[in-house]
Amino acid sequence: MGRLGGTSTRRGLDVVELGCGTAYFSARLAKRGARTVFVDPTPAQLATARRLEAETGITFLLVEAPGERVPLPDGSFDLAFSEYGASLWADPHRWVPEAARLLRPDGRLVFLTNSTIAFLCTPDVGEVGERLMRPQTAMYRVEWPDEVGVEYHLSHPQWIDLLHGSGFQVERLIDVYAGPESVRHDVYGYVSPGWARQLPVEEMSRRSGPRATEPESAQPPGRPRPWPPDRGTGYRSLPIRTCPRDPRRSSSAIQAANTRPIASP
Ligand SMILES: C[S@@+](CC[C@H](N)C(=O)[O-])C[C@H]1O[C@@H](n2cnc3c(N)ncnc32)[C@H](O)[C@@H]1O
Repeated sequence: MGRLGGTSTRRGLDVVELGCGTAYFSARLAKRGARTVFVDPTPAQLATARRLEAETGITFLLVEAPGERVPLPDGSFDLAFSEYGASLWADPHRWVPEAARLLRPDGRLVFLTNSTIAFLCTPDVGEVGERLMRPQTAMYRVEWPDEVGVEYHLSHPQWIDLLHGSGFQVERLIDVYAGPESVRHDVYGYVSPGWARQLPVEEMSRRSGPRATEPESAQPPGRPRPWPPDRGTGYRSLPIRTCPRDPRRSSSAIQAANTRPIASP
């Protein structure tokens, strides 16, 4: 936790989590003094994060939006990360450029998702096995027969091309294995501990600036707006705000709505 994939979680770091879920991970960074913004498109997840905020007293900013379209200003963060949020559920060709837009020039992107080998060995139904179940050319947009939702998986060359095209330098790709003491999990039982001790079930990637080039899909230049709104005392919590899906609303209007300075309680 102290160093997130090599990125120091020092006090005062501006962090955005893309697809925060219950926000437990960002909350730990906030507890260490990071100024965190939690982004997730699912109101129920944000409601849980809000409840945990009340219970723990750790305050943060919640923004309801998908990783593909985050209504926050350009160049606002030192670290963007995702743990099975946008990194699995958002279209990488949209969320990776969006992460690049949100980061400062020397910012870092760190994310965790399923490994390529785990994906290739996953049957349509059931546990990850020891045989290849699908061609690598089938990677990208995936809908499992018995599950709701769309996952996104890229091969390593595809990730590298996309990240370079979005202006990132690739620092590390880390295989995550189960430890010797690992036991079968009731909820995440899609892979056995024995499998995950021998093959990487997850991959963690660390990508960084300074950007070699401007992202190919760079947005218009940033707006000259103070950000974060309250650097002195850290973020305070805002009501959850929806990222409107109406394309007629300009992105600057959405951003203005979501970055308005917070009135004192
Ligand atoms: C398995 S949870 C993981 C989040 C977090 N690490 C946790 O453990 O709570 C996946 C999250 O991704 C979010 N999600 C779904 N589609 C998304 C998208 N397009 N962009 C960002 N997040 C998304 C879901 O709402 C959910 O909260």
